[in-house]
Amino acid sequence: MYKCTSQSFLFTQSRQSIIMTDAPIIELKDIVYFYASSKTKALDNVSLSIYPGEKIAILGANGAGKSTLFRHINGILRPNSGKVFVKGEEVSRKNIRKVRQTVGIVFQNPDDQILAPTVEQDVAFGPINMGLSEMEVEKRVAEALRLVHMSGFEGRSPHHLSGGQKKLVAIAGILAMRPEVVVLDEPTAGLDPFTASQIMRVIEEMNLELGITVILSTHDVDIVPLFADRVYVIHHGKVEAQGTAREIFRQHELLEHAHLRMPRIAELFELLQESGLEVDIKITPADARDEILRLLGMIIDLQGQNNADNAY
Ligand SMILES: Nc1ncnc2c1ncn2[C@@H]1O[C@H](COP(=O)(O)OP(=O)(O)OP(=O)(O)O)[C@@H](O)[C@H]1O
Ligand SMILES: [Mg+2]
Repeated sequence: MYKCTSQSFLFTQSRQSIIMTDAPIIELKDIVYFYASSKTKALDNVSLSIYPGEKIAILGANGAGKSTLFRHINGILRPNSGKVFVKGEEVSRKNIRKVRQTVGIVFQNPDDQILAPTVEQDVAFGPINMGLSEMEVEKRVAEALRLVHMSGFEGRSPHHLSGGQKKLVAIAGILAMRPEVVVLDEPTAGLDPFTASQIMRVIEEMNLELGITVILSTHDVDIVPLFADRVYVIHHGKVEAQGTAREIFRQHELLEHAHLRMPRIAELFELLQESGLEVDIKITPADARDEILRLLGMIIDLQGQNNADNAY
């Protein structure tokens, strides 16, 4: 797999040593936001802290405020009250360029992001705006397209690509600017399972191999345990809870209140519990396999015991 050699892309520390040891890379403090046309708060006192190298899921139902929250992280929207900090600096008109180089946002709808007539020109747009040399721009475009597995599409019209391919081009356009944080608004929405997995793999790679802090929003409760180090649950513009996926998905009332549900795998374990089996509720396929193997082991041991008890 391709690895970037530039200093900003080096990721030499182990994952654990990076996460939550440094100061937050993104911090939102008491953000309140009203859209002019609406009387209700789209964001209601939202506070969150995200640390370098983390993979964060912002989990919320339709209309919860996910896209509004993301538009605050790189300064597209300014809060009515509260503060947004990127690398410890409060986001303001003065540092907005720097903030947008640090934090790249991949919009919910790639058609809002992809504007140029060819894929190559589109991915080059950010690096050209950064004032980079032609050679550096070319290098960045090739590198970004390779990272999203879209090399060979340079001359294609983005508007004639599939939804998944458009999403990958939009991600490449952001990666070409070498951000430290990438924010992805519902990156798998509307994609088939194969393409959704492909996008999730690219997201994993940008985090693990390039050290990029990743924040994604979703209402897909099944992908969250596979991806997130930590989860923020939002509902009606409020942060209702934060914690690991394990902590979040055992809170039935919270999930119901936020119009969410447990992952399907956890529902299966609940059914097993209701059938009288003493199982721990698991939320990922790998943990589910281990728990089932543990149960099978117990059953085999019990059978062995019974056979021994019944022996002459
Ligand atoms: N441009 C706008 N003008 C007025 N109200 C808006 C605007 N955009 C969003 N809203 C309102 O703000 C609230 C939060 O919307 P937002 O789009 O942030 O939610 P979301 O969690 O991204 O939803 P979805 O999952 O459907 O994308 C909703 O009540 C929505 O109706
Ligand atoms: Mg949205």
